[in-house]
Amino acid sequence: MNVVIIGAQWGDEGKGKMVDFLASDAQIVVRFSGGANAGHTIVLGGEKYALHLVPSGILYPDKTVILGSGMVIDPEALFKELEDLEKKGVDWKGRVFISDRAHLVLPRYREMDRETEARRSKPIGTTGRGIGVAYSLKASRDGVRLADIDDEERLVNLTDEDRAWLSLWKDRLLPLKIDMVAYLRQHRNTWRLFEGAQGALLDIDTGTYPFVSSGMSCAAGAAAQGGIGPRGIDRILGVFKAYSTRVGNGPFPTEFADDSAGSLSQYIRTVGNEYGTTTGRPRRCGYLDLVALRYACAVNSIDRLVLTHLDVYDDLEEFEACIGYRIDGQMREDFPASVRNLERAEPVLRTFSGWKTALGTCRTYEELPLRAREYIEFIEEFTETPISIVSVGSDRNHTIVRESPWIK
Ligand code: IMP
Repeated sequence: MNVVIIGAQWGDEGKGKMVDFLASDAQIVVRFSGGANAGHTIVLGGEKYALHLVPSGILYPDKTVILGSGMVIDPEALFKELEDLEKKGVDWKGRVFISDRAHLVLPRYREMDRETEARRSKPIGTTGRGIGVAYSLKASRDGVRLADIDDEERLVNLTDEDRAWLSLWKDRLLPLKIDMVAYLRQHRNTWRLFEGAQGALLDIDTGTYPFVSSGMSCAAGAAAQGGIGPRGIDRILGVFKAYSTRVGNGPFPTEFADDSAGSLSQYIRTVGNEYGTTTGRPRRCGYLDLVALRYACAVNSIDRLVLTHLDVYDDLEEFEACIGYRIDGQMREDFPASVRNLERAEPVLRTFSGWKTALGTCRTYEELPLRAREYIEFIEEFTETPISIVSVGSDRNHTIVRESPWIK
């Protein structure tokens, strides 16, 4: 069985925790896109693990994890991450593999990324990890795949410096290389979890272009870049937070206008620990945007939603969520492609009463206070998508499962 899990907002929805949680029932976890721009934080037994490239299933000693074909991998970052895991007692050898179709990020890509950003009159706010450069070179057919690093002919267009650098990493990379499509075919009777990076609104096609990342963070990415094809997908989960955040630049219709000391924006950033895992940048915060969420559900065929960070609202008297946009005085209920329209969109907000109760001890849906359930049920109705899992804290056991995704 193949379950796909993607972010349904602008990344940082808590996918890391959910992948870690759902991986307990899977044998193989495949990360299908992105690179070291991503950051997943997992809290386990009080210990914090920050993962950027390695799929979150790694923390279970018996899971195989695969860095998929759609990924762009910086070997330096990868081996640093593996060493850090080793220091924390995680034995990864023999269960971390890389698709031979995955692309590599060379050191000069990072410089090119930063230079390109500096030249932009309206910067995207990239993570500076060379991600956009790696995907551009992939599209222009000048990238370097893992399959090619021991093929001199494929490397002729690289500089001497590039080749020297690759030869430094070759002996460590090659033992991890697999033909992922063949591997998954051979292990067809396993349960596999396909983990997306970033989120649907940062996807190169479905996101708020050009303020997006450059990979496929949409569900379709799991089919093309996870090695299973569209018909191989059994279930698609979309993870979203009770509110919205965004790092980097770009339109964000429900962003709080006031980010001063004592504002709701700062409150949510503090309680939700909304700082980038990769760059440490404070995340921009705002109310849940249901127009954007409904769009993400539609464009990704999301079967079930996973709601995270609901406990961040525990102390609020009331809060709001966006149910439409007003653009030039006109009501819109769809998510526009135009950045200009998104920037001018005034959110139409609906008010919800807070529950003023700590949700951290709730383990079943019925234990959640009525007001929390009302919020959940409104979201389900608006997006026409059931919410099957609710996360009420950062630990694995702070999770309410209404329906397991591992049921066909
Ligand atoms: P890049 O992926 O470094 O090119 O950055 C492009 C945009 O995507 C920037 O706004 C980044 O802040 C954002 N971004 C990239 N990766 C993540 C992520 O994992 N979570 C949230 N935002 C991200």
